[in-house]
Amino acid sequence: MTLDVTQATEIAYKEIMDYPLLKHSMDVGMLCLGVAKRLPLNDADTRLVVCAGILHDLGKTRPNTNLTHSEMSYNMLIQYDNDVAQIAVCHHTFQKHPVPDLDTLIGVTDHNRRLGQIVAICDKVDAYMTRNHKSPKNAFFEANKDGIFDQDIKDAVYDFVTMEHKRNH
Ligand SMILES: [Fe+2]
Ligand SMILES: [Fe+2]
Repeated sequence: MTLDVTQATEIAYKEIMDYPLLKHSMDVGMLCLGVAKRLPLNDADTRLVVCAGILHDLGKTRPNTNLTHSEMSYNMLIQYDNDVAQIAVCHHTFQKHPVPDLDTLIGVTDHNRRLGQIVAICDKVDAYMTRNHKSPKNAFFEANKDGIFDQDIKDAVYDFVTMEHKRNH
């Protein structure tokens, strides 16, 4: 099965009953779209990162003492889209102390891990902008302090959040 962006938005709307978390989810989806346009990604991968961006924290709606929220997101998303589930489970692993640890990512393709980096950096940038009231540029710098991301992905995020090249994409 594959999810499209409308379906991902409907799932977020239906499942996420905490407004700040719902807004964060949609904001991360938009950041992922901006990065996808700038890299650029093809249409199939753009769909995947936007859907995974919107649904990365879905697992927070089902707190579980044995699993991280990323793993819960995976368990909830696998019924809809295997690739979106794989991308979501990575979203706290591109940092000095990966959560869950990297062993749990066996089976996640290299391609989906790279798409997972996009969700991960967009997640951090949005968190710094929203929770810590950082400017987009400062949020980008904070997100990279503990994050381990490919240079082209970092460049695309910086280009989007600063809008330095406006919207040629
Ligand atoms: Fe998360
Ligand atoms: Fe998040």
